[in-house]
Amino acid sequence: MIVQMEHAIKPDVTQVEGQQTARQSDLVEAVRRGQAFPAEIHKSLQGVDAVVDVREFSLWYGASRALYSVSFSIPRKGVTALIGPSGCGKSTLLRSINRLNDLVDGVRVEGQMLLNQSPVYAPDVDVIELRKRLGMVFQKPNPFPMSIFENVIYPLRIDGENRRSLLEEACERALRAAALWDEVKDRLRSSALRLSGGQQQRLCIARAIVADPEVLLLDEPCSALDPLSTARIEELIHEISARYTVIIVTHNMQQAARVSKQTAFMYLGRLVEFGPTADVFQAPRLRETEQYVSGRFG
Ligand SMILES: Nc1ncnc2c1ncn2[C@@H]1O[C@H](COP(=O)(O)OP(=O)(O)O)[C@@H](O)[C@H]1O
Ligand SMILES: [Mg+2]
Repeated sequence: MIVQMEHAIKPDVTQVEGQQTARQSDLVEAVRRGQAFPAEIHKSLQGVDAVVDVREFSLWYGASRALYSVSFSIPRKGVTALIGPSGCGKSTLLRSINRLNDLVDGVRVEGQMLLNQSPVYAPDVDVIELRKRLGMVFQKPNPFPMSIFENVIYPLRIDGENRRSLLEEACERALRAAALWDEVKDRLRSSALRLSGGQQQRLCIARAIVADPEVLLLDEPCSALDPLSTARIEELIHEISARYTVIIVTHNMQQAARVSKQTAFMYLGRLVEFGPTADVFQAPRLRETEQYVSGRFG
């Protein structure tokens, strides 16, 4: 796998200009030596109003390094896509934002991560409180074995909220935002497990936004869904991003191109290029990005 990728990203001296060739050789060299590589951050994404600020962030699972000094700023509102071949660290980076990786034995991090300016990894951070500020949706829908209503308002319930009218309003608001209200409003008390896969995933999105998170983290949320449910969720992600900052991991490049405003391309634990989605797909700065988005490796 790695051999094949290294081959794929070998600089092609005949086709690129001098400066770019040097950068690409640097990436190949950095990967070979196990070093970090400075990302190509497009100008419009430098110095933005960052919701999540990643600063020289590295992560190890035991002895094995998964992230190499990643630095970039995720702007407020809209959808940011994380793309790259399987195993390049997309989920690891996403799960570092809400510190889900803390649950893995032997994890070590270096560098900084800021959520709306507040440090995610400072010693005094209450991880439970931190996680309340983020909503997360996983590959497979994971409704709890309880009613649709109780699923949606679960984050409020565990936060001690018991006022009936408030919970009912919040439930309706979240289900409407998740484009599920009309389909379930007459059966809020029935089990969430009886919903279809696509409905279950929209339910999980409703649950992830009911407590008004600062960021919504989506880890390949459509990978277990059929094309119609996928289209539905993509439309929903687009709508939700008018109000929320959404970060989506996807290995589906068409999906990244369809739903996101900016795209970060990752490769072997490095952030390679981060730019407006149209530019990353149609006019990538680096040849690695161009080769990946055109489907030549990964
Ligand atoms: N819980 C874990 N323990 C040890 N290694 C892990 C764990 N999760 C992921 N990794 C490793 O970290 C690297 C990045 O994985 P991951 O973030 O899941 O990649 P992606 O989401 O891009 O497919 C891979 O080499 C993977 O094997
Ligand atoms: Mg993943």
